[in-house]
Amino acid sequence: MRTRPLKVALLGCGVVGSEVTRILTTQADDLAARIGAPVELAGIAVRRPHRVREGVPAELLTTDATALVKRGDIDVVVEVIGGIEPVRTLITTAFEHGASVVSANKALLAADGANLHARAVENGVDLYYEAAVAGAIPLIRPLRESLAGDKVNRVLGIVNGTTNFILDKMDSTGAGYSEALDEATALGYAEADPTADVEGFDAAAKAAILAGIAFHTRVTIDDVHREGLTEVTAGDIASARKMGCIVKMLAICERSADGRSVTARVHPAMIPLSHPLASVREAYNAVFVEAEAAGRLMFYGRGAGGAPTASAVLGDLVAACRNKLAATTGAGESAYAQLPVSPMGDVVTRYHISLDVADKPGVLAQVATVFAEHGVSIDTVRQQSRNQGGGDEGAVEQGAGGGRREGGEASLVVVTHRAQDAALSATVSSLRKLDTVRGVASIMRVEGE
Ligand code: HSE
Repeated sequence: MRTRPLKVALLGCGVVGSEVTRILTTQADDLAARIGAPVELAGIAVRRPHRVREGVPAELLTTDATALVKRGDIDVVVEVIGGIEPVRTLITTAFEHGASVVSANKALLAADGANLHARAVENGVDLYYEAAVAGAIPLIRPLRESLAGDKVNRVLGIVNGTTNFILDKMDSTGAGYSEALDEATALGYAEADPTADVEGFDAAAKAAILAGIAFHTRVTIDDVHREGLTEVTAGDIASARKMGCIVKMLAICERSADGRSVTARVHPAMIPLSHPLASVREAYNAVFVEAEAAGRLMFYGRGAGGAPTASAVLGDLVAACRNKLAATTGAGESAYAQLPVSPMGDVVTRYHISLDVADKPGVLAQVATVFAEHGVSIDTVRQQSRNQGGGDEGAVEQGAGGGRREGGEASLVVVTHRAQDAALSATVSSLRKLDTVRGVASIMRVEGE
């Protein structure tokens, strides 16, 4: 084994950075044996050097991150700060000074991954970011390397633990969204400002990264259609149950049927209870990959937290260090396919639409006609009449063309066959114009069938 150590600089020392430091220190001998040389933590850039960080050598702390990445003797920079700037500049500076970079920064990779990969190649160094998507779960390397000989057609994932926790609570306790969010906040899953999670920004960044790698195409967060979960109601969850489904916040990256384009989207959706993703509870993450030769693969585990994220960072660090020793670099960006990313309107899937309608003869036929006019085929219709006071009055299952108590209101739940998202949107716009449709209570896609 080489005795001269490989030098590592750490940018950021919060929950993940502290855990990276702890593992680097406590597992030093094993890491050295696996790499073939010892690894030395040469400096840690932080904003608040006086904050107490247990197990972190105070003499390594510096507030000058730029000077640290410019040292020239650093082999690998580990970036766990997050955000776009100043991190992008720090990473490119590190590349220019000969360091490989291991990052957990999904926002940066989803915004500017292609540029960063190009800078890494120019400087003959590695850029690894396993920790940026779904924490501890190995996904980037399996997609980029293990499946490099296969053709991935779909990636369907639960990649945000906070929203999975919220939806799981709503499903298991009947709680509403706000109540479930409060519990997620109290338990430390949701942040004080939960926007990035509940509005789907976090998952959209991860979807962009996964789609790019899976389809050998450049995909940024701007290409990802995004809908949050704040409007999911206890009624939607109950309705999903009635059709043998569960509501999950999904990141879906798909090749089109003709294989000539791809789509990437993040939104709540119903999936059958029999689907492997349906059993992913609490704050766990899981990603389901469908590849032509491999078939269906499922990756499951903890998607956040100090130790799980540090596990992914350390795996990348070992790989980057091994490459440094061998004077080589690992698999980088593969974007040769350059498939266009289609808009959401081109997506084809099934829909569950809940309407409040007047309960009088002909309404069902009127609604069915609007679907037909837009070429959207109805699979099932369920009507639930309500009395004037608004209380439930028992459901009746019936086919199109039925009617029930005149003068009242009814909930109409329509589940469609597969249709284009644009056609479904046009259908809903037309439905809203009908006098007999009092409101569109919810629209949810049905996936994973
Ligand atoms: N906030 C994310 C989650 C973890 O809830 O899964 C970091 O991406």
